[in-house]
Amino acid sequence: MTARETIVILDFGSQYTQLIARRVREAKVYSEILPFNATWEEIASREPKGIILSGGPDSVFDSGSPHPHPAVYDFKGPLLGLCYGMQLLAHHFGGKVQRSHRREYGRAPLEHAGTSELFHGLPRKMDVWMSHGDHIDCVPCGFSIVASTPTAVAAMEDSSRKIYGLQFHPEVIHTPRGTELLHNFLFRICGCRGEWTVSSFIREAENKIHAQVGESHAVCALSGGVDSTVAALLVHRVLGDRLTCIFVDNGLLRAGEFEQVLTTFREELHLNVRGVNAQERFLTRLAAVEDPEQKRRVIGEEFIRVFEEEAHRAGRVEYLVQGTLYPDVIESVSVRGPSAVIKTHHNVGGLPEKMHLKLVEPLRELFKDEVRNVGRELGLPEEFVIRQPFPGPGLAVRILGEVTESRLQLLRCADRIVEQEIRAAGLYPKIWQSFAVLLPVKTVGVMGDGRTYENVVAIRAVHSQDGMTADWVPLSYELLGRLSNRIVNEVRGINRVVFDITSKPPGTIEWE
Ligand code: XMP
Repeated sequence: MTARETIVILDFGSQYTQLIARRVREAKVYSEILPFNATWEEIASREPKGIILSGGPDSVFDSGSPHPHPAVYDFKGPLLGLCYGMQLLAHHFGGKVQRSHRREYGRAPLEHAGTSELFHGLPRKMDVWMSHGDHIDCVPCGFSIVASTPTAVAAMEDSSRKIYGLQFHPEVIHTPRGTELLHNFLFRICGCRGEWTVSSFIREAENKIHAQVGESHAVCALSGGVDSTVAALLVHRVLGDRLTCIFVDNGLLRAGEFEQVLTTFREELHLNVRGVNAQERFLTRLAAVEDPEQKRRVIGEEFIRVFEEEAHRAGRVEYLVQGTLYPDVIESVSVRGPSAVIKTHHNVGGLPEKMHLKLVEPLRELFKDEVRNVGRELGLPEEFVIRQPFPGPGLAVRILGEVTESRLQLLRCADRIVEQEIRAAGLYPKIWQSFAVLLPVKTVGVMGDGRTYENVVAIRAVHSQDGMTADWVPLSYELLGRLSNRIVNEVRGINRVVFDITSKPPGTIEWE
């Protein structure tokens, strides 16, 4: 088997680093983000066809500014520096970078000389998205300026050494021809073939799982979400019934969800699944718990107990399958260190150590949309592929204050209406998440001839790429009106509906 074509992206802290990786992968070339200070061994072990140095917020003049391992500059293959990455190249090879204390952002008209492979096939004049603090005054010896904007050197290169720099961002949509530019780098300069596809990924993943797990047994906690399901499906292809899946009803699922999902797992996907009804155990432990983090802790601990008991019934198990995705992996190695814990999301944290299980994480290299494509290829029904994410602690973090059976019932009814109406409006697959939240306040209302004093539900709908940031969705007044009418009329116990218009940041997606 030939080695997989890889482009290494060194992360100097740009907000666009993940976007560069996605653009490269969209061109069917596998890309991997490594921290800026990755050792040369780490980089070389990927046998990169090219290396991209990302942008970043620093100035090459700052003490403590991030620099790559020096061997990167001697790399024999193509190097492409973007923004800060370009300044690093200019600085290192002896050019003159001019310090500036003001950052300039925005669209700029670029003109290129028509000599560079990077701009092959592109119009001589085009708009690009600039973002620069420092700029290049004088390119290093051996380099030439191949494109400019009215105020800056936009691109430089030393084609004999295959070193390229762009002062703008080809990866963002505001650079309309940016994708072609990146393709030129990948295919004309790095000589990539673009053979990284969903089916090649699946083949490689199967080989790796086989090599790792051999004849042993594995368990997998299914959450009902697409990540754990696709991870289980991949491992199931190699292990068959040596994989035992466990799907726990913690009493915090949505209306009808446990039965529906269990049926899909068993009858359509033919997974070997134990469905565990543990509703009472969870609700008993949640009694009187109001603090959001305490809720997560209680649910996480109880989950581990239930899972451990069930896994023991599966016999001698050595491996735990998890649907960890690429953004979780890169977040933990990012330049600025692990981001501050805002919410404790890892519901099964501590499980592998406690049970002495080794981890199998077949999706560690993939972004969410890539996981969905793998799911499709593995025969996951479309309905399941497009399921919106749902948090591990379930409705518990959407019931503010104490979680009780009666409040769960209220929220389930309201939430079902939100889902029905969002689907009916054709919005369900276009929205990252849409749901109802039950608030811990009562308000006065009037229904028929009588006064009511009942609960308030908030509707939340957000667009997001990965859950890290989000924008609220401007649902139409008509749809909001229908939601409000139906919830107040159909759910006894709710007399007021409000709509959340907070983005993330400063809000979070869930209310707890
Ligand atoms: P927040 O609320 O932090 O949510 O903006 C970001 C994404 O993560 C989901 N979420 C969770 N997922 N366990 C999970 O598995 C959790 O405790 C948890 N809290 C939030 C949330 O639904 C959104 O997709």
